[in-house]
Amino acid sequence: MKFRINGGKSLIGEMPVGGAKNCVLPMLACSVLTEDTVIIENCEKVSDVLDMVDILVSLGAESEWQGNSVVINCRHLDGDIACDKVGKIRASVFLLGPLFARYGYVNACLPGGCAIGSRPIDIHLDGLRRLGAEVTVDDTVCCRGQVHGNDVYLRFPSVGATENLLMCASLCEETTVLYNCACEPEVTALEKMLVSMGAEIYGIGTPVVTIRGRKKLHGVRVRAIPDRIVASTYIFATLCAGGDVWVTGCNPRHFSRLNRMLKDCTDTYRTYSDAVHIVKKHRHKSTGNVITAVYPGFATDMQPLLVAAMCTADGKTAVTEKLFENRLKANSLQLKSMGADITVNGNRVTINGVAKLKASDNLCATDLRGGAALVIAALGAEGESTVNNAHHIERGYFRLQDILKNVGADISVCE
Ligand code: UD1
Repeated sequence: MKFRINGGKSLIGEMPVGGAKNCVLPMLACSVLTEDTVIIENCEKVSDVLDMVDILVSLGAESEWQGNSVVINCRHLDGDIACDKVGKIRASVFLLGPLFARYGYVNACLPGGCAIGSRPIDIHLDGLRRLGAEVTVDDTVCCRGQVHGNDVYLRFPSVGATENLLMCASLCEETTVLYNCACEPEVTALEKMLVSMGAEIYGIGTPVVTIRGRKKLHGVRVRAIPDRIVASTYIFATLCAGGDVWVTGCNPRHFSRLNRMLKDCTDTYRTYSDAVHIVKKHRHKSTGNVITAVYPGFATDMQPLLVAAMCTADGKTAVTEKLFENRLKANSLQLKSMGADITVNGNRVTINGVAKLKASDNLCATDLRGGAALVIAALGAEGESTVNNAHHIERGYFRLQDILKNVGADISVCE
């Protein structure tokens, strides 16, 4: 599947943001912790979410979609996670903690996901060991034992490991204290979900979280938070293509670092409680130097989108990638083929903004956000571009082409 984009059209209108897939995925894993039904509202049917539901169903869960809500019941499950799907999405690693806590046994293939770095899972496994798992790793990861409470220090505030350990500790009547936790909004949303299911959690949204779990948790109806990365994609798309766009249904407090960076870069950049209004009529300015960091720093998932938008900014930009080592190279070479003045040096990229990019008919998405970045670059380039391997983009964007078409982009999908 590929996108064909005829660039150079301004974007005008509203771009609505749905629920965050990075919030829905751990919430789906969380449904494993109870025999009751869990309803997750505000889910986009992106392929990562569909795959995660499929994995749960293959383990024995019952699920159905009601509009944009997933209804899931995990009364009877199997602890052996088959290899075919799990290889596909990294989020399947989230199932280790909940399945181990519930059954004292889980055996899973090592997770896949974006090709953006080595992506080890040692922090997950070290934490699970502290919570009682005897872990063996060969072709599969196997955790066995009886979950118990403990103090766990995470050597890095990993989003996924924090979520995994929160879920595991919540199905145990003893007290666990997690130190050096990730504080991303998606982690906070999961902490609140676990509280609604019956766990006691103190320090929500902070690096030190105390959990007093329960032997049984109950069902819940929750709502996924808006997708801050999708919101930023629409914002950067407007910078690339020019126009006057309202990004709606988002929560700008979840990307305040980005808002501070962009407020003086373009004609209008205003945030509201649930929207951003961005106008670009004249060439935008560079944001200056940016380094990716854990929340509330500049998100690594926004980095490829920022780089694409800075290719045509007035001024020089240096972007340093601190989280995923392979995230800069592939896209930078492709942006270069579009006329960008861009140099990669290790985990740092330097961009001298040029007035315009030119179209390229041979772009290739190599990962989810990198693929989206090529689409927005092509929106601003004169002429027709093609982005191949667009299935990577569908992992995290639901009908991106329709949302872009709706604001005036000339984009179509070809098989
Ligand atoms: C999550 C997001 C992903 C985002 C990332 C960082 C989901 C489904 N995915 O991924 O979109 O880019 O947070 O914000 O929510 N690390 C280890 N050992 C581990 C775990 C992580 O060394 O056991 C390293 C990673 O290689 C990486 C860093 O820690 O360098 C951060 O990774 P982590 O926060 O775990 O990202 P994910 O949860 O995989």
